[in-house]
Amino acid sequence: MFFKITKCMLFGTLLMLFGCEKSSTQVDVTQTEVELRALLNIPDHFAIPAIPEENMPTAAKIELGRHLFYDTRLSFNNTMSCESCHEQDKAFSDGVARPVGATGEQLVRNSQGLVNAMYHASFTWANNGFTHIEDQLEVPIRADNPVELGVTEVYADEVLARFDADPAYVQMFADAFPESETGASVNKIIFALASFVRTIVSGDSPFDRFLLGDDNALTDQQKQGFVLFNGEKFECFHCHTGTQLTTSYRDYNTDPANAQNQFFNTGLYNLSSEGDYPAEDQGLFDLTNNPADKGFFRPQSLRNVAVTAPYMHDGSIATLREVIAHYARGGRLIESGPYAGDGRLNPLKSDLVPGFNATDEEIDAVIAFLESLTDESVLTNPALSNPFE
Ligand code: HEC
Ligand code: HEC
Repeated sequence: MFFKITKCMLFGTLLMLFGCEKSSTQVDVTQTEVELRALLNIPDHFAIPAIPEENMPTAAKIELGRHLFYDTRLSFNNTMSCESCHEQDKAFSDGVARPVGATGEQLVRNSQGLVNAMYHASFTWANNGFTHIEDQLEVPIRADNPVELGVTEVYADEVLARFDADPAYVQMFADAFPESETGASVNKIIFALASFVRTIVSGDSPFDRFLLGDDNALTDQQKQGFVLFNGEKFECFHCHTGTQLTTSYRDYNTDPANAQNQFFNTGLYNLSSEGDYPAEDQGLFDLTNNPADKGFFRPQSLRNVAVTAPYMHDGSIATLREVIAHYARGGRLIESGPYAGDGRLNPLKSDLVPGFNATDEEIDAVIAFLESLTDESVLTNPALSNPFE
């Protein structure tokens, strides 16, 4: 490893809040770490993320990635950019249940918010094989079923030629990848976009200020909600823990073999005695073919969750209140229609979703706590905004 730092993770329980291991052999923070924190805007209470060594970020890569993220020339028919489904004021989600791609085809999944995405142990709602953002980005760019940006083999040369014909991009590609042959390539685009996505960092919510010692950063109601969230009645913290409020967490110190690469079935559906989810999306099962993985999805980070509605992998829950009702019931009941079934009885549902009785006051408090995770700065940071405007 090219730099050494002390590991500091905040765990979701009150008791372990400041479980930072300040080791006795604490080393001086190296130049590299200081540079990386400055470049990616990483606050001191976050660990250094796991970044593939072949794509360490530079200011030039980030600048190129930011332009590409907002550029519709990156879709085969010049109609969509990454921003079409990942909008800054919605914490880089898009406000619809399931978006459509560049050909108008609807995707099966909800667009994920991208804030602090780099700390997830795996990428997308359910893929244990995507361990870096670079792995995931092949999908929106190249996929043909369903189409997102539609830059398939057939269109790749045409799309790359657009960037090679624009002198501003020629310069940006040369600055970002000084060692390689000139010109655009899909790999360079992926590396630059991943570098930009790593700068979408949020660490200045009221919750962060509270963690860092400002007792007034949370209201009394939010503090009550925080305690409930971390208590054995609501049980949220079992799956939404640590600085990023998810067990799907990884930083550069995490041994990939030990990464808590976890997926859970929360009882959102129950279409058969085998615990089936709707056939178009059964989560991890669709990759592993292991029937025990049906309905298994990644616990999403809850940072900025108040602005990323609708919720869950298919956007099928409209509000945070309804999400909590789903957990309180111990699984969702769908009374009629093609998805009818009682999620509470799903045989694959996690034991951590048993259901609970909560008062309206308690539910209001947990919602207020979730709202304290909103970081206005990331929603408005000019460095993350559309550079063409
Ligand atoms: C048509 C809508 C759409 C477009 C365009 C799109 N995305 Fe996404 N994005 C999604 C959806 C839906 C998911 C969840 C995919 C899944 O779970 O399989 C996602 C997931 C992601 C993730 C994974 C986040 C995580 O926490 O695991 C990243 C990173 C991402 N998108 C970045 C991008 C970038 C960069 C672009 C532009 C090249 C882009 N997306 C274009 C809809 C879109
Ligand atoms: C057993 C693990 C587990 C527990 C316990 C749990 N969650 Fe989740 N949470 C998940 C998973 C997995 C998802 C994604 C599920 C899906 O999309 O099918 C999720 C999704 C969510 C979402 C939607 C996020 C988004 O961006 O769409 C919210 C909000 C949420 N959980 C809040 C809570 C709250 C509040 C509690 C406590 C009442 C809680 N969770 C308890 C695992 C869990």
